[in-house]
Amino acid sequence: MAPKHFLQFNDFSREEFDYLFERTRWIKDKFKRYQPYHPLFDRTLVMIFEKASTRTRLSFEAGMFQLGGSAIYLNTRDSQLGRGEPVEDAAQVMSRMSDVVMIRTFEQAIIERFAAHSRVPVINGLTNEYHPCQIMADIYTWIERRGPIQGKTVAWIGDSNNVCNTWLQAAEVLDFNVHVSTPPGYEVEPERANLYGTGHFEQFADPMDAAKGADIITTDVWTSMGFEAENDARIKAFADWEVDADMMRVAHPEALFMHCLPAHRGEEVSAEVIDGPHSVVWEEAENRLHVQKALLEYLV
Ligand code: CP
Repeated sequence: MAPKHFLQFNDFSREEFDYLFERTRWIKDKFKRYQPYHPLFDRTLVMIFEKASTRTRLSFEAGMFQLGGSAIYLNTRDSQLGRGEPVEDAAQVMSRMSDVVMIRTFEQAIIERFAAHSRVPVINGLTNEYHPCQIMADIYTWIERRGPIQGKTVAWIGDSNNVCNTWLQAAEVLDFNVHVSTPPGYEVEPERANLYGTGHFEQFADPMDAAKGADIITTDVWTSMGFEAENDARIKAFADWEVDADMMRVAHPEALFMHCLPAHRGEEVSAEVIDGPHSVVWEEAENRLHVQKALLEYLV
C-alpha cells in the first residue's frame, strides 16, 4: 500500500484534522503529566534540512524521542536532494532505512518527487510553497484558547508567502475565512487566488480593513526563503504593513496575534504587539511539538 504523506495542508480531510487535534490534546496532556508514551519505540525519523531551522528541527527531534523513537538529522552537506544524487534514488535509499522522513527544501516539486518514490510517509517541514505543520500548530493553538475555528476570520498581513498559502488551503479544508493584505505587487499569485478564492478568501488593499473584526491577526518576516536578495526593497515596500497596536484595536476584542517565528520586532510586528496580551507566539511554537507528535503517531 502506498504510504500517506503530509506535503500540503489539504492532503488531510477535515475529519482527519479533527482526529489529529484530539490526539494532540491527549498527547500533550500526557506529556505535561510526565507520563511516558512510546508508541514509536524502535522507529526512526530522518530529517533533511536544506535550510536552517530552530523550531522545526527541535520539535521533530524532541517529539520523536518522546514517542520512544529516534531522529537522524541530515543537512546540505550530508544530503543532496536534486543537486547530486537524483531525488528518486535518495528516496529509495532513505525510505528503506527509516519509518518516516521530514524534508525542508526550497522547492515543493522536490518533496513531491521524493514522496512519489518513498516507501514511508514524507512530511513537509517547509518549502517555498507551503508550511503545513506550522498551520496545524497555529490552528491547534486557536482551538485550545478559543474553541472551533470554523467560521472564524484570520487576517494575514504582509507577504503572500508559503505560510499565507497554507492558511488559504486550511481555510478551505476547515471552513474559515482568510483576509489577506499585502503591498501592491506582493499579492497572492493569481492562479492561487483563483484556486482558493471560493468563498473563504478575500484580498484587501488596506491592512486595517483586513484586520477589522478578525479573530486572528498573523504575519511573518517580510523576506521569506528564496527572496533574501530583495531584503532592502521589501523593507521599504512593507513599511505600512507592520502589525501594531492600532491594528490590534480594530480586530475582534478577543483576537489572538500569531507569528510562526523567528520575528523581527519593528518590522512586520511591533514589540508592543508580539510581547503584549493578544500574543500567543510562545504557545504556537510549543504546539509545533505536540501537533507533530500526533502527526508522527498517525502516519507511522
Ligand atoms: N516557524 C518555523 O518553521 O521555525 P524554524 O524556521 O525555526 O523551523
